[in-house]
Amino acid sequence: MTLEEAIVVEHLPDAGGYWRIELRAPAIAPRVRPGQFVHVRLTAPADAILRRPFSVFRTEDDRLELLYKPVGRGTRAMTELRPGAVISLLGPLGRGFPTPAPDRFPVLVAGGYGMAALYLLGRESGRAGIVFVGGASAVDVLCVPEFEALGWEVRVATEDGSRGLRGQVTDAFDAWAASELSDRTPELFACGPNGMLRAVGERAIARGWTAWLSMDRAMGCGVGACLTCVQKVRDPSHPDGWTWARVCREGPVFECREIVWEDDV
Ligand SMILES: Cc1cc2nc3c(=O)[nH]c(=O)nc-3n(C[C@H](O)[C@H](O)[C@H](O)COP(=O)(O)OP(=O)(O)OC[C@H]3O[C@@H](n4cnc5c(N)ncnc54)[C@H](O)[C@@H]3O)c2cc1C
Ligand code: FES
Repeated sequence: MTLEEAIVVEHLPDAGGYWRIELRAPAIAPRVRPGQFVHVRLTAPADAILRRPFSVFRTEDDRLELLYKPVGRGTRAMTELRPGAVISLLGPLGRGFPTPAPDRFPVLVAGGYGMAALYLLGRESGRAGIVFVGGASAVDVLCVPEFEALGWEVRVATEDGSRGLRGQVTDAFDAWAASELSDRTPELFACGPNGMLRAVGERAIARGWTAWLSMDRAMGCGVGACLTCVQKVRDPSHPDGWTWARVCREGPVFECREIVWEDDV
């Protein structure tokens, strides 16, 4: 883990209210693994003193790119950063996605900024699989050209039906699994809202597949010290059958069988 003053190279609005920010970070960028994140300190507003976690979307030589949506004070202030500005990064952090198993068919499932967490995995997996991406409307569907350029097949679902299948991303996955999976065994990699992650995990458990889920938790320190980000995980050695894991250290990626969802206990 490295603390680095990164320089903004480019910063532009993208589809669906998202922004892409490219940063020169020579000490961090070359070491990022798929699914890891950086913890970003913003200098403004003054009350946004805690760092904010962002998945690393792309890396290229000494640069890394984040894909983010302004949702609150910190991320709204982030949109004001101009090329040449300096921001403090801590990273790369967390346990990212494992390399896809050679005897499984890689399947990525993304909602919202999930595409940002999954792109590096798609690029570095060594072979192409299929990506399911969901959003409320066509404008919320991100990164399709990037995945297609890697040779991945992309299936889209939107809640209003304006692009791809009408429904949720798991509906598109179910339709494909029912008719096109044939005798292949998928290995699932997912990032998105908790409800989507849970739905993906339930499908994997029911069918005996492996599913790696990138969990989203509000974070404080990002390095395992403050326990802001804890998640219940199964632990057969504990009398209750579960214990706490720190999403920033033991995660953000967990195999679906590790996760204890709140009404499971
Ligand atoms: C490992 C990890 C990777 C992430 N990667 C990305 C990414 O690639 N792109 C991206 O856009 N966002 C990502 N996020 C979410 C991002 O960290 C939050 O959106 C950001 O911290 C919000 O900061 P803020 O100051 O703008 O919002 P705040 O003012 O702190 O909060 C504004 C609103 O956003 C909600 N919020 C705050 N943090 C989160 C969170 N972690 N998840 C959901 N809602 C939250 C708050 O409850 C509140 O309603 C990631 C989160 C984690 C844990
Ligand atoms: S954010 Fe502090 S322990 Fe995870």
